[in-house]
Amino acid sequence: MKVSDISDMWWKTAVFYNLNVGSYLDWNDDGTGDFEGLSHRLDYLGELGVTCLWLAPFYPSPRADNGYDIADYFGVDPRYGDLGDFVEVVRTAHERGMRVIVDLVVNHTSDAHPWFQSARQSRDSPYRDFYIWRDEPPEDQRASMFPDAEDGVWFYDEAAGQYYEHSFYRHQPDLNTANPKVREAIAKVIGFWLQIGVDGFRVDAVPFLIDNGGENEHEYLQAIRTFVGRRNGAGALLGEVNLPYDKQIAFFGDEDGDELTMQFDFVANQRLYLSLAREDAGPLVEALRARPQLARTNQWANFVRNHDELTLDQLSEDERNEVFEAFAPEESMRIHGRGIVRRLPPMLGGDPRWIRMVYSLTFSLPGAPVLYYGEEIGMGEHPTLPGRAAVRTPMQWADSPNGAFSGADADDLPHPLVSGGFSAEHINVSAQLHDPESMFHFVRQLVAAYAISPEIGWGDFEILPQPHACVLVHSLQGSMGRLIALHNFAPDGRKVTVTLDDTDESTRAIDLLGNETYLLDDGVLNVTLDGFGYRWIRIARTGDKRLL
Ligand code: NOJ
Repeated sequence: MKVSDISDMWWKTAVFYNLNVGSYLDWNDDGTGDFEGLSHRLDYLGELGVTCLWLAPFYPSPRADNGYDIADYFGVDPRYGDLGDFVEVVRTAHERGMRVIVDLVVNHTSDAHPWFQSARQSRDSPYRDFYIWRDEPPEDQRASMFPDAEDGVWFYDEAAGQYYEHSFYRHQPDLNTANPKVREAIAKVIGFWLQIGVDGFRVDAVPFLIDNGGENEHEYLQAIRTFVGRRNGAGALLGEVNLPYDKQIAFFGDEDGDELTMQFDFVANQRLYLSLAREDAGPLVEALRARPQLARTNQWANFVRNHDELTLDQLSEDERNEVFEAFAPEESMRIHGRGIVRRLPPMLGGDPRWIRMVYSLTFSLPGAPVLYYGEEIGMGEHPTLPGRAAVRTPMQWADSPNGAFSGADADDLPHPLVSGGFSAEHINVSAQLHDPESMFHFVRQLVAAYAISPEIGWGDFEILPQPHACVLVHSLQGSMGRLIALHNFAPDGRKVTVTLDDTDESTRAIDLLGNETYLLDDGVLNVTLDGFGYRWIRIARTGDKRLL
């Protein structure tokens, strides 16, 4: 691996951190988090070891879908500051060695966007064809992504005198991306943010974005990638494509990987939860075996939770019910008939060993990890907030009013803080920074171990056979070394010993997360894992020049 490849393809081994500015830190105490607040936390994120921030939509918006309903692609919502404040954050992040990607939400606009406001007024509007209109909705209308809010994906607009398509909420009319003028407008948006200094985009709802009913849908995604490449050769496109692997693979493009650079692995994510529910590594192992091989210029993004529901839509109904019963026993914890509104720690009953095993596993899987803010301290959800808001509560900085997120009245915050056992009184950054045994320090240790293990992002992946169904053992072979990771899905009291006997060339085995010393006996290594135990073992040869 060449050093130039590593910097051009920085995202192959990045540690991503997603946050919503409005929920992170409110510097001017008006109740809403702002860019100035974020800029004061860049050192914190640097300390954690984050290498790329992913900023959720911060553009002017009615925020009827958490900002994924954009009214102006070229601005910053005044609640968060102004474009100057944004630029300061990007500059400071870069100075700290952190990159920044932003959400590209161009499958749809808000209905408050001037394009839509003009389009609906008249069939002669220059923006009419920016959207998709019909006199009558099709009879075989596809189901809405939000079935509890919308009956379908066509809505009659009185002013327009026609129906328009909306894949998501009715206030999010779909852009007509088959229209070259729309493509030009989208290119201008991409060009604008790249010029301002961002390092790429998290691309929203990609299958919907390119779906234009034609045969050459992927040409448009290739065109976007080419354009990003021309403006910023190292620009990343991290796409949201929640489809089975055989369909998802096409979104990486041809054998050179010329479409999305990265995609979230929703399949492995959903199978992970089934494995957790069953205390059996099997479901995840099946997914990892089925995971398509990627071009060198592509990467998987591994995650535990995100800002949406934990969707289980790719599991069978029985499997989904197993996960529901284990982790969302009450109806209020479920959403859209397919997902869970909770964060991981409450789902796992707050068991620190179980929680840590999941993060250790996620960081060790081939790909790049993506954290959702608050995961590094084990934040919980707000059980009574409606829908996806449950996981969008303010960041918990300290055990003080409003979790030290804001000095405003509690009533003025975008969402109330978590209460109960996962409240800021119990779970907060300040306390954890001072506690070497805390979740924060554990995640920081994972980030550091990931940083010195480039084989996780670049190496050859293999699942090692062993007899315990509750254990996943995988190996990553890089050009300079090998990492073997072991994870036990079985609970307390179910200790297992795994024998690794194909390590013959090696001379040393180093425990990257702990301080155990392993002795190799003629290439044979015995590793004992407690219930929910995890281990990263670097196999080193004599004369190895790597950091160990
Ligand atoms: C996916 C985003 O993650 C979600 O939050 C949003 O509601 C939809 N796309 C629509 O933009």
